[in-house]
Amino acid sequence: MDKIRIRGGRPLHGEIMIGGAKNASLPLMAAGLLTEERLVLGNVPRLADIDTMTSLLAQHGIAVDPVGNDGRTLSLGGAITSTEAPYDIVRKMRASILVLGPLLARCREARVSLPGGCAIGTRPVDLHLKGLEAMGAQIELEAGYINATAPGGLRGAMIVLPFASVGATENLMMAAALADGQTIIANAAREPEIDDLARCLIAMGARIEGLGTGTLTIEGVKALHAAKHNVIPDRIETGTYACAAAITGGTVLLRGADLSHLAAVRSVMDSAGVELTAEPDGVRVTRRNGLHGTDAMTEPYPGFPTDMQAQFLVLMSVAQGAAMVTETIFENRFMHVSELTRMGASINVHGASAIVRGVPSLSGAPVMATDLRASASLVIAGLAAHGETIVNRVYHLDRGYEALEQKLAACGADVERIAG
Ligand code: UD1
Repeated sequence: MDKIRIRGGRPLHGEIMIGGAKNASLPLMAAGLLTEERLVLGNVPRLADIDTMTSLLAQHGIAVDPVGNDGRTLSLGGAITSTEAPYDIVRKMRASILVLGPLLARCREARVSLPGGCAIGTRPVDLHLKGLEAMGAQIELEAGYINATAPGGLRGAMIVLPFASVGATENLMMAAALADGQTIIANAAREPEIDDLARCLIAMGARIEGLGTGTLTIEGVKALHAAKHNVIPDRIETGTYACAAAITGGTVLLRGADLSHLAAVRSVMDSAGVELTAEPDGVRVTRRNGLHGTDAMTEPYPGFPTDMQAQFLVLMSVAQGAAMVTETIFENRFMHVSELTRMGASINVHGASAIVRGVPSLSGAPVMATDLRASASLVIAGLAAHGETIVNRVYHLDRGYEALEQKLAACGADVERIAG
């Protein structure tokens, strides 16, 4: 298995190209199931999770073909030949659940493996299922699979989400686009990736109102048609490299990034002594002087993203003073803390909060993480640490960061992938 070797202590200077958002691309690809015509998606990042979604769609009969030479434009199309999403693919990526709504809406049946356990908490899919049931689906759980049918087709419904789940909002919005009548999703998630999906569905002929608000109103239509859509820049990749630049004391232009999606991150980073400024080509990251301990609490958008918690925690681990970082979205999302402690960080977890006491420096060590963002946080720690850090289980990083080591090396980091 590949590893990443980092020799820390070098400030990052230069430019990093920010790719299309993984978490927007995955639901957008699932939306390819909603039409028999072609859906063309531009600015799709080249990531292992995109390959997993490609395999899943192929299993349903939808071909995902690259268009042109950039490898970032995908054309999706084909007739649905299977409504089953098997365990072997779903277990690799939880976002596979996003095929459930589209399959049910298009084919009136779907059999999707339950995603099962996950390193960052139990992560049930009950909100997806309850919403689909409200739309008339009959759902049974059997032998680890969700068996869903809607013999008369899905019909519009009033759905109040008890929690603004990103995936449930996406699944239900896609299903509602082809349901009979009006669906209202109240307490819908408001993440930019949801807006991006809604804009693509509208380009495909869907009737959706309330974008960017907590209430989405969807008038079902009989069929959706071909469309072309460009994926928004990845705000989490942006925030990750912002933390990387800041911890090394460097200055980096994150080319193509959109600061408007990062208001909460910008504000917290500002208090910590790091400036994120919009430039015509992207976002510039500059550290004013030292880093200051700053509290942060993860919340649904527009709050501070849970997917930035681990990276920000590392930044705080070398800040002056103390910081309290509270995780409200996922239970059990502090698995990176024990590895950071091995690198010399002083962090205590009490329930949903991590209390960080900044230390003057970290020291390199062999480390590994159990999820994507935690792995990214260890890379950031390695960039700041004295000596050599080896990050194991690189496949987590490959799920969500394209060419991570090349992007960092181009800005002066001493980082390389060791094939193993
Ligand atoms: C998406 C993102 C993920 C991010 C998360 C929160 C994608 C592909 N993934 O995941 O990177 O960390 O949003 O911003 O976009 N929950 C339930 N029942 C449900 C659904 C969710 O209890 O049916 C709970 C989860 O266990 C979790 C919380 O709601 O505690 C948030 O989950 P959700 O917003 O659904 O996240 P995902 O869509 O899985």
